[in-house]
Amino acid sequence: MSSPSRFLAACRSQPVACTPVWLMRQAGRALPEYRALRDHFSFLQLCKTPELAAEATLLPVRALKVDAAILFFDILLPLEALGLRLDFTPAPVLEAPVRTAQAIAALRTPRVAGDLPFLAQSVRMAKGVLGHTPLIGFCGAPLTLACYLVEGGSSANFPHALRMMREEPALWDALLNKLTDLAIDTLAVQAAAGAQALQIFDTWAQLLDPEEYRIRVLPHTRRLVEAVRGSVPVLFFLRGGAPLWLRECGADVVSVDESVTLAQARRASGGKAVQGNLAPELLKRPIKELERHVRRVLAENEDAPGHIFNLGHGVPPDTPVENLRFVVDCVHRLGAGKIHPQGQGMNP
Ligand code: CP3
Repeated sequence: MSSPSRFLAACRSQPVACTPVWLMRQAGRALPEYRALRDHFSFLQLCKTPELAAEATLLPVRALKVDAAILFFDILLPLEALGLRLDFTPAPVLEAPVRTAQAIAALRTPRVAGDLPFLAQSVRMAKGVLGHTPLIGFCGAPLTLACYLVEGGSSANFPHALRMMREEPALWDALLNKLTDLAIDTLAVQAAAGAQALQIFDTWAQLLDPEEYRIRVLPHTRRLVEAVRGSVPVLFFLRGGAPLWLRECGADVVSVDESVTLAQARRASGGKAVQGNLAPELLKRPIKELERHVRRVLAENEDAPGHIFNLGHGVPPDTPVENLRFVVDCVHRLGAGKIHPQGQGMNP
C-alpha cells in the first residue's frame, strides 16, 4: 500500500522515506482494464459520467500501485464551456477552428461549474473511491489550449496557432486572456470539489523559442498559476527545453521532459520540487535497461527532497503493462536512498 501523503509531502519539498511515483497518462490504453471499459463506452461517455470517470481514475492506482491518481478528464473538454463542440477520434477534433477576431469575440464567457457539471461530481466520486491516495486535478496551459483551438484539432506543429502568435499579437493576447480565464475556472472547480494538487500541462511549449515564450505566453501562464496557487500545490509540466522559464512560472513543482535533467530543473527553478524526465519510449526497452534508466533518473535527483518520479511525457498506448508495474516497484524499492547508477544501489 502506498503511504497516504508521500506525493503531497514531496510536492512541498519535504523529505520522504520512499520516492513517490505516478505516470502522466497512466489511465490510458496501456491498461487492459481501460481497454475493457472502452469496449463498452466512448471516451466522452467515460469523461462525462462521474461513476465511470471515478472508476477510470482508480484503475492505474489499483493496477500499478502509483502514489497519486489524476482525474479521468481531458484538457480540451473545458473548451465546451466557450460554446465549442468537440469530438475525439481518438485525436481531438473541434467543430470549427477559431482563427478570427469575430470567432474569438463569439466565444462564450465560461462558467465551468455550470457548463461541465460532471467535473466537480467526478472529483467527488473519485475521491470517494480513492481513499487515501491523493487526487490531482488538471488543465491545459493557455498556449497548449490555443494550439488546439486555432488549429481545430491535433497537429504536428500547429502552424495556424504559431502564425497568429507571430503575426497578430493583439488577437493572440485576447485569445490567451480568455483561455487563461477558462483554465483558472477549470482548476478552481476541481480544487473546490477536493482535488489535492493541480497540474498544468504545457505540452506545446516546445514549439516556441525561449524569448517568444517569455513575451507571448509567460504573462498568461503566470496569471494562471498565481490565481490558483495557495491551498494546494501546483505542478507545471513544460515539454521541451528552456529551463529558463521554470523559475518564472511560479509553480511549486516543475515537471520536465527528457531534454532537462532533474538536477538542471532544480537549479533552473531556484530549488523547487521536480518531476519527470524518463523518456516514455524507454518504457518499452528490456527490463534491465529500463532499470538502469530508473536508477539514472533517481541518481540525477542527487538525494534532494522534493522529487516525484514521472515520465517526460505520457505513457505510450503500446507500453507493456508489466513494464509500468516494474517502474513503479523499482522506484519504491530504490528511491529516497543512496542510488548508484551502475546498479549496485543501496536500499533505504
Ligand atoms: O491518465 C490520464 O492522464 C488520464 C487523464 C488525461 C487524459 N488526457 C485522458 C485522455 C490527461 C491528464 C490528459 C491530458 C491531455 N490531453 C494533454 C496534455 C498531456 C499530453 O499528453 O500532452 C493533451 C495535449 C490532451 C489532448 C488529447 N486528448 C489528445 C491529443 C488525445 C488523442 C491522442 C491520445 O493521446 O490518445 C486525447 C485523447 C485522450 N485523453 C485519451 C485519454 C485516455 C485517449 C482516448 C481513448 O481512449 O480513445
